[in-house]
Amino acid sequence: MARVNAFRASILHCLADPGSGISSSAVEYFKDGVLVVSDGVVSEIGPADTLLPSLSGNIELTDLTGKLIIPGMIDCHVHYPQIDIIASYGEQLLDWLNKYAFPMEAKFSDAAYASEVANFFAEALLRNGTTTALVFATVHPQSVDAMFSAAKQRNMRLLTGKVVMDRNCPEALRDSAETAYRESRELIERWHGDGRLGYAITPRFAVTSTEAQLESMGKLANEFPDVHIHTHLAENRAEGDLVAAQFPWSRSYLDVYKRYGLVRERSMFAHCLHLDQEDRQTMGELNGSIAFCPTSNLFLGSGLFDLRSAEEAGIRVGAGSDVGGGTSLSMLTTLSEGYKVLHLQDQSFPPFKALYMATLGAAKALYLDDKIGNFAVGKEADFVVLDAMSAPMTARRLSRTDDVAEKFFALLMLGDDRAVSATYVMGKPAYIAGRAGVPIKTL
Ligand code: GUN
Ligand code: ZN
Repeated sequence: MARVNAFRASILHCLADPGSGISSSAVEYFKDGVLVVSDGVVSEIGPADTLLPSLSGNIELTDLTGKLIIPGMIDCHVHYPQIDIIASYGEQLLDWLNKYAFPMEAKFSDAAYASEVANFFAEALLRNGTTTALVFATVHPQSVDAMFSAAKQRNMRLLTGKVVMDRNCPEALRDSAETAYRESRELIERWHGDGRLGYAITPRFAVTSTEAQLESMGKLANEFPDVHIHTHLAENRAEGDLVAAQFPWSRSYLDVYKRYGLVRERSMFAHCLHLDQEDRQTMGELNGSIAFCPTSNLFLGSGLFDLRSAEEAGIRVGAGSDVGGGTSLSMLTTLSEGYKVLHLQDQSFPPFKALYMATLGAAKALYLDDKIGNFAVGKEADFVVLDAMSAPMTARRLSRTDDVAEKFFALLMLGDDRAVSATYVMGKPAYIAGRAGVPIKTL
């Protein structure tokens, strides 16, 4: 017998890209809706008044009336080993890496240390309503084992991989073209496709890899076409100057990754602030994706992401927190800062578009939209229960309007982990704040 659960609440999800309009037929909203989950996947969704009477059998109903269910949010770019250096003062990217990130990452040679941080991080994702993430580990294979184990324990759909770097970094964090290939391959064989886990080949950025190492990663990517590729691109001007000096033959920074076969479906490039039109065209044609990381871009003083130009080139874009360069694991906060970054450039970022970028749009950018991103029947039932009433200011602001787009926008601007009442992974509660989510009635 299938395990069937029904959840009653307001429900909001995207059916397609809402584009730049305020209201949109690309979203579906049920003020009083029901989401039905059978054995962890969505089996029905609809208005309570028609769907509830049609349900029969042994179904557990969780009444979340007054709260809002949205799909589990997706973080397209984040570093779990940097959780303990979040909010470190005063540096731009290259100095920030040397002063804060690299010394912290060196600690992950210790498997027990890595495991403690990975478990904290997985809990923190869930507390923020994030159910899927594409995650940087460190150069140490044991840091990858720790992250995959923590995700597996919670049944989360999660992607991670060993960082590879063989120059311009401390000795303790350096591998080689050969060890990077061998260790990455062993990790793919150990973890890729285990339940909901997927591997990401992770050259840190062009600055920290030799041509031989990038070539070895291209070879590996070619041998495993369904794994992800995860790196940084065109984040900071000084970084770009280094890449131009290290790869004098290259037309552009993107050209370096392209040369080694690292731009394809399932390649995720964080930032992409300093691309030219030809780069965008190439990225669109080769089906690479971009992680838009506004809190990081502001915090590290990197620049402003041009969403309009990326979308005009047909590039898939998802939102990323980029913690610890970013300053919040909350995708609500990330989207709120995204709105401001785009507003500064006279670009629109309406509320449902923002929702899209952390749900269905992010799933498309990760090529996981056949599995997650919205509540289409058959998708994995990862979802978040938002409670706007959990913070007094948010509660007050939202009580001033009945318009869904206006309410959701204010929730995005004001919300953070306090707005997350519960997070469900494949229909089961993985995080519950207070008493929300407790089944109160069996039909
Ligand atoms: N570029 C290379 N490494 C990093 C990192 O750890 N964080 C950010 N934001 N950019 C990078
Ligand atoms: Zn990053």
